[in-house]
Amino acid sequence: MNEFIQLQDQITKEFKTVDSANQANHFKSKFIGKNGILTELLNQLKHLDAESKKKHGYEINKLKNLVTSLYSSFNENLDQSESIQTDYSIPVYVNKGSLHPLTLAIKQIHEIMQNFGFMYELGPSVEDTYYNFDALNIDHNHPSRDAKETFFTANNVLRTHTTAVQIRALESQKYTNNFRVYSIGDVYRRDDDATHLPMFHQIEGFVIDEEASIATLKYFLLNFLRKFFENDNISIRLRPGYFPFTEPSVEVDVKFENGKWLEILGAGIIRKNILSSYGHKNGFAFGIGLERITMIKFGINNMRNFVTNDYPWLQNYSSRR
Ligand code: DAH
Repeated sequence: MNEFIQLQDQITKEFKTVDSANQANHFKSKFIGKNGILTELLNQLKHLDAESKKKHGYEINKLKNLVTSLYSSFNENLDQSESIQTDYSIPVYVNKGSLHPLTLAIKQIHEIMQNFGFMYELGPSVEDTYYNFDALNIDHNHPSRDAKETFFTANNVLRTHTTAVQIRALESQKYTNNFRVYSIGDVYRRDDDATHLPMFHQIEGFVIDEEASIATLKYFLLNFLRKFFENDNISIRLRPGYFPFTEPSVEVDVKFENGKWLEILGAGIIRKNILSSYGHKNGFAFGIGLERITMIKFGINNMRNFVTNDYPWLQNYSSRR
């Protein structure tokens, strides 16, 4: 029995000197490894009579458990102390991700529109042809209904414009009296060249108001664009245009300090036949290409940059809000 008390002493003493993972392994194998002290003692048991075998076996196993638990307590402490160690010599990792310029623009537009009292509506990307075309007076012969222009699915269409959201919002009857609704989302057309992507984004907005007119539309757009471009010196000009869902329709150009006019959006007074179906009398609407205004805002000259995911290019926008 004395032998076991001595061994226990030896185990605890030796464990106190262990201070590295290596030493801990050494400690463990010294006692319970293949040729370890306790392993050897266990092998010797077969030479003993039944009673001693039982007693010794019990003591040896107690010591084995002691070694195992000391060994694992050492490793647990090691894990913890390693996890809070800091290596100050490692260079700071500066390549954090940043927001995509389109995301930056979208965030800003949400802010502006909500400050102007607009309610947000999402609308589906895969749209019923009724909302994308029919309800907007786009008849069956319209070129945008050609499969060469537009992506059709079995029964639906990848929406060609966010104007479809106008119909969904009106039909829902969620909004009454005077109200303002906007949407920002992905739209799809069979265009793929230097200045067109098959998927791009639009901002659609409309205002239902008895007072709505080309004048209030122009006033709103000018304020929206001044906020978006963070420039109070821009001016806008309205030219006559045509859209099946507005009458009159206008194309809107913007002019910056350099004096050049750039076409950026379509707008107009919502046609009476659309409004009256949902019990409204008067309103204006507008649709803006998100990529277009984002390119102007950030001075981006290649639309493809938006989708090539070039990391250094994306980093150019990391300091924007
Ligand atoms: N949906 C049109 C387009 O994709 C843009 C547009 C024009 C939207 C006039 C409108 C609008 O709401 O009134 O080209």
